[in-house]
Amino acid sequence: MCGIVGIIGKDLVAPHLVEGLKRLEYRGYDSAGIATLVAGKIERRRAEGKLINLERLLVTQPLGGIIGIGHTRWATHGVPTERNAHPHATARVAVVHNGIIENYAELKAELTACGHVFESDTDTEAVAQLIDFYLGQGKSPEDATSAALKRLHGAFALGIIFADRPDLLIAAREGSPLAIGYGDGEMFLGSDALALAPLTQKISYLADGDWAVLTPSSVVIRDREDKVVKREVRLTQLSGALIGKGQHRHFMIKEIYEQPQVIGDTLNTMLNPASRTITLPDLPFDLASVKRVTIVACGTSYYAGSVAKYWIEKLGRVPVEVEIASEFRYRQPVLVPGDMAVFISQSGETADTLAALRYCRDAGLHTVALVNVAESTIAREATTALLTQAGPEIGVASTKAFTTQLVVLACLAMGMARANNRLDAAEEARLSQALAEVPARIAEMLRGEDNIRQIAEDVAQARDVLYLGRGPCYPIALEGALKLKEVSYIHAEGYAAGELKHGPIALIDDHVPVVVLCPSDDLYDKTASNVQEVIARGAKVIFISDAEGLSKLAVKPMASFQMPPVDPFVAPILYAVPVQVLAYHVALARGTDVDQPRNLAKSVTVE
Ligand code: AGP
Repeated sequence: MCGIVGIIGKDLVAPHLVEGLKRLEYRGYDSAGIATLVAGKIERRRAEGKLINLERLLVTQPLGGIIGIGHTRWATHGVPTERNAHPHATARVAVVHNGIIENYAELKAELTACGHVFESDTDTEAVAQLIDFYLGQGKSPEDATSAALKRLHGAFALGIIFADRPDLLIAAREGSPLAIGYGDGEMFLGSDALALAPLTQKISYLADGDWAVLTPSSVVIRDREDKVVKREVRLTQLSGALIGKGQHRHFMIKEIYEQPQVIGDTLNTMLNPASRTITLPDLPFDLASVKRVTIVACGTSYYAGSVAKYWIEKLGRVPVEVEIASEFRYRQPVLVPGDMAVFISQSGETADTLAALRYCRDAGLHTVALVNVAESTIAREATTALLTQAGPEIGVASTKAFTTQLVVLACLAMGMARANNRLDAAEEARLSQALAEVPARIAEMLRGEDNIRQIAEDVAQARDVLYLGRGPCYPIALEGALKLKEVSYIHAEGYAAGELKHGPIALIDDHVPVVVLCPSDDLYDKTASNVQEVIARGAKVIFISDAEGLSKLAVKPMASFQMPPVDPFVAPILYAVPVQVLAYHVALARGTDVDQPRNLAKSVTVE
């Protein structure tokens, strides 16, 4: 979380820094700020809240300078006020930071005892003050930075400028991602290549422990032992254009509507509609040799993995464990070298998922990344990357990234089943056909948006909402609840429908809407019985099923939504969409900030 950007060059940097921050705002929007050098002095502009507030401030108080750093914040230490906004500075040095300095309290105590006066509650200010301390001892900016870096514990990506060195911008990375951009007479740093895309396509990524000295015409990268190292410079494919909302009011609904297209694009990379077969990208190991699959992810990506467990176990008969990355990494899991571990992440930068990947890699597992950002750290560090073709996802609530993850996982499940001789050609053709029809079925489902809008008006009045599903639709119930929580701030929980009577049924009364995901599959009757049980207790059921499922239901729900009929194999992909649309319309009805909900960030780069 937090986005940083830095420029050393030839033009006024403030507008370019703001442009870079716009492209990083998905990382946090609690405050924003920039610092530049003007006539040998560090000048700052900082504003609480979203970037637009900083932009307004810069209209009345513009900032000159051809070297500068910028920051958009997701608060960790210190409330989101202007005082705690980055850049943090002394008279000699200014710093922007993404990550957490774990030993900041110790450093602060030590520096305070030496007479340094702190003005914020942040961990980051300890970095600025520590470098300032070494500068005060007569060290050069490079030596002062090197000395300070060796004292920091935790995760950081840093951008640093010095009052008396307009020719010097320093970047440093430990744990948090950081890219260096190469220009002509100017150089850049940014949390990701997307931030730098309008400025340059030539990018290199710092490795952990690296720090880089940037001048307008050179970049020298050193490792944690201060040895000069080379990092590959590559050409990024990312576009410099800012993504727009088209005719939609919010990115979230735009991205929901993009699903038929991007699922089609993703399927095109793996599914041959003519032969109705699946082709997985080349893997450097034999899928048939995998005795157990471990899937690790966070949030929505974790729910995608949870659906995959049903698919892989049912089709391939290979055991699957799905793990929340933040638990997995500290659990000391028992792993068997040669097994496969899959790391699912839209951003490819989630700190816990990345740590889990490194853990599995060190344990000798085959690591497969399933990411939406081809140049992300997780994609680069895994043995193999499977890519979703969702395109940039800007809405903080994940929608199209989730369904494209599901599509890739469905193909992976089929590939594993085939490798294990458990999928014959006829079955492969049937499942491929079902997958190929998903884009059209989603488009059909979306034509019912108005019905969901009406249901949302009721749900928007609720304090709590329950979501129920069975089998592979159970993780979709969890995802539906997460979507609603994220964008509407209504308390919601997902449950396995059969688990309800083991406790949660106590919550049911006529104020609690219960959203039931119930495709016509072999579990339909079981879920329908659960619906009867909750309706008997006064629940306001919103029943989501196909025409056959709706007609068979023996009791009358408060509301229903008719889905197109689909093969049960792809039902979880399809049933993910109405819960997204429902969450969106409930959020609209409640007037929340749909694309940038409070307290959240799109890319969670701290643990
Ligand atoms: C999704 O709506 C959430 N914003 C969040 O749970 C997200 O899925 C999670 O943080 C994982 O992110 P990743 O896929 O980029 O790793």
